[in-house]
Amino acid sequence: MSGIYFHIPFCKQLCSYCDFHKNISLSAKNEMLLCLKKELVQRANYLTDKNIRTIYFGGGTPSVYRPQQIQELIDIVAKYFTFHHEIEITMEANPDDLSPDYLSDLQQTSVNRLSIGIQSLHADDLKLMNRRHSDTQAIDAVKKAQEYGFDNISIDLIYGVPGLTLSKWEQNLETVFDLDIQHISAYHLMIEKGTIFAQKVARGKLSEVEEEISIKQFQLLIEKAKENGFQHYEISNFCKEGKHSKHNTAYWQQKPYLGIGPSAHSYNLKEREWNISNNKKYMQAINQGDCFSEKEQLSLTDRFNDLILTSLRTAFGLNLLDVKKMFGESLYQHCIKTAHQHIRNNNIRKEGDCLILTDKGVFLSNDIMADFFWIE
Ligand SMILES: C[S@@+](CC[C@H](N)C(=O)[O-])C[C@H]1O[C@@H](n2cnc3c(N)ncnc32)[C@H](O)[C@@H]1O
Ligand code: SF4
Repeated sequence: MSGIYFHIPFCKQLCSYCDFHKNISLSAKNEMLLCLKKELVQRANYLTDKNIRTIYFGGGTPSVYRPQQIQELIDIVAKYFTFHHEIEITMEANPDDLSPDYLSDLQQTSVNRLSIGIQSLHADDLKLMNRRHSDTQAIDAVKKAQEYGFDNISIDLIYGVPGLTLSKWEQNLETVFDLDIQHISAYHLMIEKGTIFAQKVARGKLSEVEEEISIKQFQLLIEKAKENGFQHYEISNFCKEGKHSKHNTAYWQQKPYLGIGPSAHSYNLKEREWNISNNKKYMQAINQGDCFSEKEQLSLTDRFNDLILTSLRTAFGLNLLDVKKMFGESLYQHCIKTAHQHIRNNNIRKEGDCLILTDKGVFLSNDIMADFFWIE
């Protein structure tokens, strides 16, 4: 089973923290739609397994397109691939795009999962982050989506934001857990190079939060999620039973996927490939029948380290038998040996053949993963 990712490289406004590829001029929107369709046709053979389990519209802001246009992309996929009977089709949407009219049209499409970017429910945080919507707009968008029949909704939140106190974070969590949603992605703020936040930090106008505050906010998140019946299935992801993101889980389990659109990544078990992060050059290349991607052949060590990074992030853990089968006896023994000290320190527990981070280990995940990495 495979996945397909569409990157929609447009936003109406730049958020201060975000370094995902996008343009804020929407003038090339229609030409881009044509190019996304062309690329899908040009690269359909990239995936040998033609059964599609998940389609994900990410960005950027997919909701800059009308639902009918999103459906046109899904229809092209259906021409070249077969759909799994439980196909998950997710669309990221910004709250202010989800008007009743938009939701009513979206409900007619095959999109069956919405990921709504809320980030915070405090006006001062939203202003600092340069978000386009208010807190009430965000809550209304979720409620309206539910009224229009969407029953698989994820929301994005960011913590570790300067000015977000523990009590403000607690209010955010209490409000979103009351919304009867199925999934939450909560990310710690990363100050990314080239963003407005990075410029402010460099000029001394913004200071990063102290680690102690970050840890407290993460602890509170884990606690509240548990209280509300959510499973913590990946470091930043929480879900009601069975409602994990099938698309992202496939990434973490190293399943093949095809990424369409500027900056999109693809993986076919042997190599990683990524498209150019420039809308104009991307469209020129596609119109000439090329897709302007760069490739990286993965060595056995790269693939092993990728598996460590992706599997230990999740509640499914690292399967030792998979390690033995895919990478042989010596890397298997390396994992057993490395796990030993972490099991003794209660950072990792062994369930059957899988190594899984404990609640304590989750807080030390970066250090633990680094211990498992194989350096040649
Ligand atoms: C690529 S964005 C697309 C979502 C959609 N455009 C929106 O803004 O709601 C996906 C999510 O990544 C998260 N994100 C992006 N940049 C981040 C950063 N620097 N630190 C933490 N989270 C970030 C945000 O929560 C955002 O909703
Ligand atoms: S967070 Fe979303 S809306 Fe904001 S700039 Fe990034 S992709 Fe665009």
